[in-house]
Amino acid sequence: MARATSLYVCQSCGAQTRQFFGRCSSCGSWNTLVEQTATPTDNRRRRPVAAPAEAAIPAAPRRSEPIAAVGDRPLQRLGSGYGELDRVLGGGLVPGSLVLLGGDPGIGKSTLLLQSAQAMAARHSVLYVSAEESAQQVKLRWRRLAEEQEELPAPEAGGSGLQLLAETDLELVLQELEALRPAVAVIDSIQALHDGELGSAPGSVAQVRECAAALARIAKRQDTALLLVGHVTKEGMLAGPKVLEHLVDAVLTFEGDRFASHRLLRAVKNRFGATHELGVFEMRGQGLAQVLNPSELFLGSDEPSAGTATIVACEGTRPLVVELQALVSTTSYSSPRRTATGIGTNRLHQILAVLEKHLGLPLSRFDCYLAVAGGLEVEEPAADLGVAAAVVASYRDLTLPPGTVLIGELGLGGQLRPVAQLEQRLQESARLGFRRAVVPKGSGLGRLAAGLDLQLLEAGGVAEALVAALGVNPADDRA
Ligand code: TYD
Ligand code: MG
Repeated sequence: MARATSLYVCQSCGAQTRQFFGRCSSCGSWNTLVEQTATPTDNRRRRPVAAPAEAAIPAAPRRSEPIAAVGDRPLQRLGSGYGELDRVLGGGLVPGSLVLLGGDPGIGKSTLLLQSAQAMAARHSVLYVSAEESAQQVKLRWRRLAEEQEELPAPEAGGSGLQLLAETDLELVLQELEALRPAVAVIDSIQALHDGELGSAPGSVAQVRECAAALARIAKRQDTALLLVGHVTKEGMLAGPKVLEHLVDAVLTFEGDRFASHRLLRAVKNRFGATHELGVFEMRGQGLAQVLNPSELFLGSDEPSAGTATIVACEGTRPLVVELQALVSTTSYSSPRRTATGIGTNRLHQILAVLEKHLGLPLSRFDCYLAVAGGLEVEEPAADLGVAAAVVASYRDLTLPPGTVLIGELGLGGQLRPVAQLEQRLQESARLGFRRAVVPKGSGLGRLAAGLDLQLLEAGGVAEALVAALGVNPADDRA
């Protein structure tokens, strides 16, 4: 038996050292090393949960085989009851997979998973393990949610396959999973689970990793799809989901503005589908509702005003029509202020420099503020032309003709670069009633645009594009 030794474990990244440091040498975080008394080789002896079924299978020697000969097993995905969640998962939950849902406290993780568990329970057996809230608290929420969602069975209808377990002890949770063998299980949250055999506190890296690994083993063995809730914390005792990311099959993040009601669900890792898909929900008084037409959320007012421009951003395969607003005003600082919400400030600096150089606009004497409507983060360079148009429109106090979208990446030489998925972007614009689209030259989509009743204005450079969009030459001082 190994001797008990002291180990210092970083609570942020999980790195272990024998010596205490103020700063983790692996991830660079300060004050995250916590002493832990562990018997390192001890863990293996524990957990007699080897399933009888597994034990009964004769241990055949494992050999490699030609990849073409590997038996196909079609993925049978389970619908989560919410199209927006399925979209982010890549079409639904895969049996035996582990999905981690991360997000700030209070963003709605428990609400989303409880609603989804209830919806799935109509067709599958579902276990909801609440390690944070008592059974009564969950019941109260469930009743409120179930009463409100007409598509869900009424709570009194009976026959709901949703089982609830309020428990923090890992051993008991594992036992219940084995006894019930549910198709889907929700663990809310992984940080609140506690393995009594480890000395460390609940939520510490060792606990989180050990609990997740034990859950993963059982999920794979009995083909249970596991949805784990994980907290995102910058510091403190709770282990961030970083240590789990390698272990699970998919990592979803649930994010949103504290001041806005909509919530964005994204996949940052997905072994069974594309990442960067976006699901949009809205937090209502009675739970989360899917937003099936999110473009409407990110389109501002109907009244066009100076300094606004509309772009089409692509989130995964999903085009979103989004409004941008710019405010350009004479600066009273020695170095002008540049503030961007929803777009990287460096990107804004770059676009301003291109406008200054290629259109001769003296923007370095002006403050410039930029905001994306609806709190969306737009990372794509395809938004560049829209940013440029909003800035120039504000600078010149011009209003873009209504019904115009701008799509294109700006090169440092002032050229307009082609963007991916232009076809889908144009289709989405047309669907929302836009009639003009300014796009990079050589798109080859003239016929498609004509079919969509969309006027396609192609431009090779930023100056040409802005003239086409605004109808006047912004570089001309009399404009
Ligand atoms: P919750 O799911 O508990 O968040 P998390 O599990 O991510 O910590 O959601 C908490 C917030 O959601 C809370 O601030 C209240 C709000 N909420 C509603 O607005 N409507 C509802 O129907 C529910 C259940 C919660
Ligand atoms: Mg919660």
